[in-house]
Order: sequence, then structure tokens, then C-alpha cells
Amino acid sequence: MTFTPQFLDEIRTRLPCSEVIGRRVKLTRKGREQAGLCPFHNEKTPSFWVNDEKGFFHCFGCGAHGDVIGFTMRIDNLSFPETVEKLAGEAGLELPRFTPQERERAKRQQTLHEVVEAACQWFEKQLEAPGGKAGLDYLLGRGLTRETIARFRLGYAPDGRENLKSALKAAGVPEALMLEGGLVVKPDDGRESFDFFRGRVMFPIMDRRGRVVAFGGRIMGDGQPKYLNSRDTPLFDKGRTLYALDKARVGVAGGQGRAPAELIVAEGYMDVIALHEAGFAGAVAPLGTAITESQIDILWKLAPEPVLCLDGDSAGQRAALRAAERALPLLKPGHSLRFARLPAGDDPDTLIRRQGASAMAELIARARPLVDVVWDAEAAGKPLDTPERQAGLEKRLKERIAVIADRSVQQQYFNTIRERLWTTFRPARGGRRRAAATPPMRSSGLVSSARPAEVLLATLVNHPSLAHDHCEALAGLALGSLEFDRILKEILYFTARDELDSAGLKSHLMHTGLAAPLAEITRPDLYQLWAFAGPQAEIAAAEIGLRHLLDGFQERGLEAEVGAAERDLATADSEESEARLNSLQKQLHHTGLRGTLPDDDDLGQAHG
Ligand code: UTP
Ligand code: MN
Repeated sequence: MTFTPQFLDEIRTRLPCSEVIGRRVKLTRKGREQAGLCPFHNEKTPSFWVNDEKGFFHCFGCGAHGDVIGFTMRIDNLSFPETVEKLAGEAGLELPRFTPQERERAKRQQTLHEVVEAACQWFEKQLEAPGGKAGLDYLLGRGLTRETIARFRLGYAPDGRENLKSALKAAGVPEALMLEGGLVVKPDDGRESFDFFRGRVMFPIMDRRGRVVAFGGRIMGDGQPKYLNSRDTPLFDKGRTLYALDKARVGVAGGQGRAPAELIVAEGYMDVIALHEAGFAGAVAPLGTAITESQIDILWKLAPEPVLCLDGDSAGQRAALRAAERALPLLKPGHSLRFARLPAGDDPDTLIRRQGASAMAELIARARPLVDVVWDAEAAGKPLDTPERQAGLEKRLKERIAVIADRSVQQQYFNTIRERLWTTFRPARGGRRRAAATPPMRSSGLVSSARPAEVLLATLVNHPSLAHDHCEALAGLALGSLEFDRILKEILYFTARDELDSAGLKSHLMHTGLAAPLAEITRPDLYQLWAFAGPQAEIAAAEIGLRHLLDGFQERGLEAEVGAAERDLATADSEESEARLNSLQKQLHHTGLRGTLPDDDDLGQAHG
């Protein structure tokens, strides 16, 4: 659609820059211009200027520049005609009628849609044909039902250079349209064009209205690339498309007796399909790339807090952080992302096939807020045991929060982070504040004593990933009771398989005859004194607590050895025993400097 320059000028005159932009950016007058924080990049001091006389905005930080139309296109992710339509409405202007050229273009788009749709139907037909048996077997072999195959319109592209091409040609489709739709490619050297997808099972990609716009094709078995996707075309903009959005829209809306589904973002085609098949009707996926800002905007139009399901492995965790980083500048009141973490080695597809929909539902229900991902990125796995390191953490967190453009969200992030820093690093046993806030449950003398071994086991039961991370130090421990040693062994055994889920671990212990000692070590009043051991504790706090405990155990182990060495020396008086005693004493001295474990009596005391 084209608009006359006069029409566009009329919009610009009726809608001053500062008015349109001022709705999105807090502007402060500075002489003839107004300034604010640039919405297009992350900054802490304003370098974004708006000049009403000239009708332009300009950012000296990132170079963003334009008029009201450019601003709206960018901030709302709209196309030019969509933007003009929107602003014309705001300005009280009626849209001009289509010109003949516009009609021509709209028709051409329409035709391209028809061509891509024809290709989709042809792929579907091939899957049912004898020649498509390999494809059908592949899909059925991956557990898909015929119903799902039909619903997602999966298909098959036979191997060969000109299968689709000749079918479309026979239907009268000009080659130019096949090229434009990304269905065939033409080599630069002038040779004949040929089918882009060959010997693959086909996943059509629909736009939000359910029209086929592109395809992903999977190789059946090993080989590279595993998935081949259509390149961007006039119908397909990869960064603004989400796989299965058409279906998820319906699922998320609910109705017809169905509860609104959770909006879930998985990583791949097969994950989305498995999720829908298992009843998660709000599942979508980006198309093989990290989630984009446009995609986040699209998601937020459907649901305020979509859940990202990323792999539990380190790549998945990096992807989580990347998505969080993308989202931070865009956050607005009520809108965020949540993060579900899958067990290492699983994606939603494999998890659902192995453990069923309920396991998946549980992970989604336990999805963590974005602020946790930010916190973990800076706090988890890092030593935070000195004031300097703690201050360093605070500084890094604040830097991350600084990119949030929305002031009220940013303020809440500051508050949350400050609170968390306080609860994490308040003096280890200085329950003063807490004691004042919550009246003691029992009179001080009655708070039951906990032995270090119990605190240690409670910490591990509630934070199994710590058992995984510290397995070497833990494996050498003797906890002074057969039962405790058994629990520890089971914890290590369980977490060694990368099962890092507390509920799962507890149920494992209960099923191995350890229910009674488990109940003992997870009694709530233990957490009253030892918050870091409890289920509510931050992982970083739990880790610091665990390190202190481990240091203490190591120290005591050495003490016992020193005792034995001394006895040795008294009876044998060899040089060897003397050297051993010296070395042990040195080690003991060293650990003594590093930290102390309160002994049993200490632990039993009530504080506050
Ligand atoms: P994965 O490799 O995780 O694939 O890629 P998957 O979805 O689990 O697929 P299966 O289970 O092996 O069949 C996730 C997504 O990344 C994109 C695809 O969209 C895929 O679904 N991708 C992956 C590509 O675009 N190209 C590739 O070569 C691989
Ligand atoms: Mn997979």
C-alpha cells in the first residue's frame, strides 16, 4: 500500500513527536527539545532527543532516528502500512483508497500464499503416497499419531531435484513465484533451479492466522543440517514468526469448555508438537534462533508471562540468560517471562515421552521468575563469602537492572534484589531481624538441637544441585551415623544421574526405606535456625552454608587424624609419623583460618 506524501504530512502535523513518543518515553523539556532514556537501547543517562519543530527524534547513543511514523513502526513492531493505519486513526484521518499498484501487490501476495499452500498440500500428499513411506515411518516412529500428523499438516519432500518443481509447474505456477516463495533455488551459475527441500519430512510454518508461509524440513536420521528452514520471503520473516502460533492463540484463549492454556515457548518443532499432543495447547517455538524482541512482543500480546522451556544443560541455561537479557529492557508492569528448567539431556519431547505430561506440567508449574535467572547469572556458583565479593555481586546485579526501561519495573527489581541480598548475606546467625518479625515458635530452650550432619543433609535434600556440584568433597565425608551416611550415599547416587529435583530426591529417599530419618532432617524448626538449609533459601545462600559445613567437617576429620598421629608418635616415634603430624597440623591451622563450623552445642542454641 502506498500513501501520498500529503497524507503522511497530515499525520505528522496532527501528531507531534513529543505527544506520540511521550506516551512511551518519559520526556523532560530541555530548551527547545525534550530528552529521555532511549527506548531502543539500554542506557542510564538520557541521550534520546525529541524535536517537535523538526518533527524528529534522534538518539546520540545508538543513532536511532526518525519521525512519528518511524518511531511507531519500531516501538510497536509494525509494518509501514500498519503504522500509517494506526496513526491515521489516532489523528482522526480516514485512510485513502487503494491505488491500482497496491491492489496489484496485494494480489501478488495472495498468489504467493496460494503457491505456498499448494506446496504444503503436495508435501502432505507425498507423505501418504508409497514413495513417502520412509517419512511416514519416521514420524510414526517418533510417536506421533496420524491425527497429529494431519493437524500439523506434516508432509514429505521426496529426494530428487525437480519433484515439487514439476508438480507446481504442471499446476501452472510460474517459476518466479516458486523462487519468491523459497520453494526452489536457482544456482548463480545459470543452471536450472531445483527443489530446495529434498529427502526430508516437512513441517509447514503457519502465520498467526494459520496460513502456510514457510517450511522446516528434517532429515530422517543423522546428517547435516538436521533442519533446513525456508529463507525469509515476502510472506516469512523468521524473527517475527513463531511456530504453531496459530494454534497456541486458540489454546491460550480457552473457551468452549476448555481452560485457557499456558503460553509455552519450547525450542523446536518436535517439542511443540509433543506438547500440543500432550494437551499443552499454548506451545510455540522460535525458528531455530534465540528469541527475538519482536517475538517477545508477540508473546506478550497473548499472555503476560509466557514460560520458556529450555534444556537443563549448560547451553539451555545460556539460552535462558540470553532470553532474559533480551527481555529485561522490554519489561513492563505485569509483563515478564518465566523459565522452566528441564532435566539435563531432555527436551519437552523426550521428557513427555519418558515421564508423561504430568512431569512436564510440574516443571511448568514450578517455572522460575526472570529475576531468579538474573540473580543466578551473577550469584550461582561464585564465591560470595567476603564483603568485597558481596558488594561486587550487588554492583553486577545493579548493572543488569539498569537496562530495564520501565521505571516502575526497574524500581521493583531494585527492591527485590536489595531484599535478597539482605536475606542472603545477613550475619549467618544474626536472626535478630527475623526474630523480631516472627515471634519464636517455641520458647528458646525448646528449639531442638540440630547436628551439623542434619543441617548438611537438609541443605542437600532441599538443594540437590549442590550435592551434584560438591560431590567430591561430600563423597569423602563420614557423618557419624550409619543412617546419615546412607542418606548421603543415596543423595550422591541420585544426583550423579543429573536428577536435580528436590521433590524427586525426597521421594527416592522415601522409597529406599529412609522416610523416618528424612522426616527428621527436614523438620521445619531446623530451618528456623538454619534458613540456608531450607527449601525457601536462595541457592547462593545454601551454597555458602554448605561450604562452611564442609570446612567444619574437614577440620574435624583432620583433628581426629592429628589425634591418631599423636598417638602413633607416642608409641613408634618414627620420623615418618612426625612429618605426618606436622603436615596435618599445618592443614588444620589452614582450615581453622578459613572458617569455623559451630559445634553441636552452638547449633543447638536459640538465637534472637
Ligand atoms: P534441536 O536440535 O533441539 O531439535 O533444535 P529438536 O527440535 O529437538 O528436533 P529433534 O527432536 O531432533 O527432531 C531445535 C530447533 O532448532 C532449529 C529447529 O527449529 C529445531 O526444531 N534447528 C535445529 C534448525 O533450524 N536447524 C538445525 O540444523 C537444527
Ligand atoms: Mn528433540
